[in-house]
Order: sequence, then structure tokens, then C-alpha cells
Amino acid sequence: MFDLTNKTALVTGAASGIGEAIAKTLAAAGALVYIADIDIENGRRVESEIVAAEGKARFIVLDVADEADCRTATETVHGENGRLDILVNNAGIGHVGTIQETSGADLDRLYNINVRGVFNVTNAFIGDMIERRHGAIVNVASIGGIVAIKDRFAYCTTKFAVVGLTKSLALDHALQGIRANCVCPGRVETPFVKKRIAEYPDPQKAYKEMAATQAIGRMAAPEEIAAAVLYLSSDEAAFVTGTAFEIDGGFSVGK
Ligand code: NAI
Repeated sequence: MFDLTNKTALVTGAASGIGEAIAKTLAAAGALVYIADIDIENGRRVESEIVAAEGKARFIVLDVADEADCRTATETVHGENGRLDILVNNAGIGHVGTIQETSGADLDRLYNINVRGVFNVTNAFIGDMIERRHGAIVNVASIGGIVAIKDRFAYCTTKFAVVGLTKSLALDHALQGIRANCVCPGRVETPFVKKRIAEYPDPQKAYKEMAATQAIGRMAAPEEIAAAVLYLSSDEAAFVTGTAFEIDGGFSVGK
């Protein structure tokens, strides 16, 4: 089950947190994984940790908001392997605030990475996937793309868009061999969340409150999200497309 031998994958934002766990999980299943990130130091660290564990990985610098970077990534991946089988759009950034605490520039910044970034990278690879009638796309949205989260106006706006974008891709390209799905994690303990927590006046209290928003009473480990991405990337999920897979410890089931 979940054997990715001879598959090539690209994971954006793979130098940290959930993306790092996804890259390591896909590599452990046998894929050659491109670690695509703007963070060169940590991107190289993840690459060498995968190689040390006898996996196949290659770091490439990629700013998902930059269309030229995306075209270069396509040339590199296709030049070295002839194809990409699995694309994981994971890179994303956050913001805390209501609409009144969100500037137009804040919204543009989040949109450019969280939505336009997914568009840019997908657009750079999907043409070839359609031509070969084969490709699995997994987008990392958020439970904030399914239900609103208080004080996350810009973030929820962009993550709802990622869910819509994913479903639209799934419908348009289902008969062309492309599957597109997204995962919607609840709170996951990563540098991203630690940074958000540090922005609160009382970070310890904020940590406890964030953990308690999951019915299960804790945050997820990045590996728990990566396991779902592995499934959605694999041939075992051949009949799964357009889904928004909630992995949220019960965040959204009710109060
Ligand atoms: P993180 O901050 O630990 O890692 C994000 C990675 O993306 C970093 O390596 C960063 O360098 C990279 N990145 C940022 N901007 C980029 C760009 N323009 N181009 C390429 N790479 C870029 O974040 P984390 O927590 O691992 O989040 C990953 C994804 O999961 C994000 O899309 C986030 O919205 C989503 N998510 C996170 C949750 C959490 O609780 N941590 C919950 C739900 C969703």
C-alpha cells in the first residue's frame, strides 16, 4: 500500500512544518521529492536529512508567488525526470485579525502566496500532466477553509478560495487523468503556529486555548497531516477527487 517508487513529487513550502513532514513521508514511500521553498538553509537541511535516510530528494529555490520561478521549476523537474506525478501545494502564510485589523496590503500578501501561489505552481505543471493523462494534486488548505475561525479574516478568505480552487480543478480535469484534493488541517504544532501564538499578549494561555479548540484536546503533529497527503497522492486514492479532507481533531464537528 502507498508505494510511490518511481514517482516524482514536488512539495512547496517543504523546508518547515507540515511541508517538511510531507516531503519526508513521500520520500519514505519511495518518491523522488523536490523540496521547493524560499528558505535555502532549511530546504537544504530537509534534503540532506532525506538523503541520509536513504531517500531521494532535491532542493530547489521556488517562490510560489513568482511565475518565472514556477516556470524554472517546471524546466528543472521535467529536464531531470521528464515528468511530475505528484504536486503538493503546501506553502502558505497566516495573519491574525478581523477585517478592521487587516490592511489591503495584508490581504494581497496572503492572497499572493496562499491562492495565487497555488495557481502559479499548478498552472506550471498541469499542462504536462494532462498531456500524459496522469497527475495527483494535493493542496494544503485549512479547517479555516471550511468554517470561519475568529480573528482570521484574511487567512480564512484565502483558504476558502483554496478549497474552491481545488474542487474546480477536480471537476475540470477529472476526465483527463488528473485528481485534485485538499487537506484541511486543524491546528498543527509547527513554526507557523508557534509564531502566531507568540503574537498573543499571553502566549501560554493562547497555546492552551488553541489546543482546546480541537475536540480531541490537542494540536496535531505534522506527520498526522502528511499521512493523509500520502494517501491522496497514492494510486490507492484513484477514485478520490475534489475532496476537502478535514483532519482537525474534531475542530469543526460542533461545540
Ligand atoms: P511553516 O511556516 O512551518 O512552513 C511554511 C513553509 O512555507 C516555510 O518553509 C516557508 O519558507 C515556506 N514559504 C513561505 N512562503 C513561501 C513562498 N512564497 N514560496 C515558497 N515557500 C514559501 O507553516 P506550516 O504550519 O507547516 O503550514 C504549511 C501549510 O499548512 C500552510 O499552507 C498553512 O496555511 C497550512 N495549515 C497550517 C496549520 C497549522 O496549524 N500549522 C493548520 C491548517 C493549515
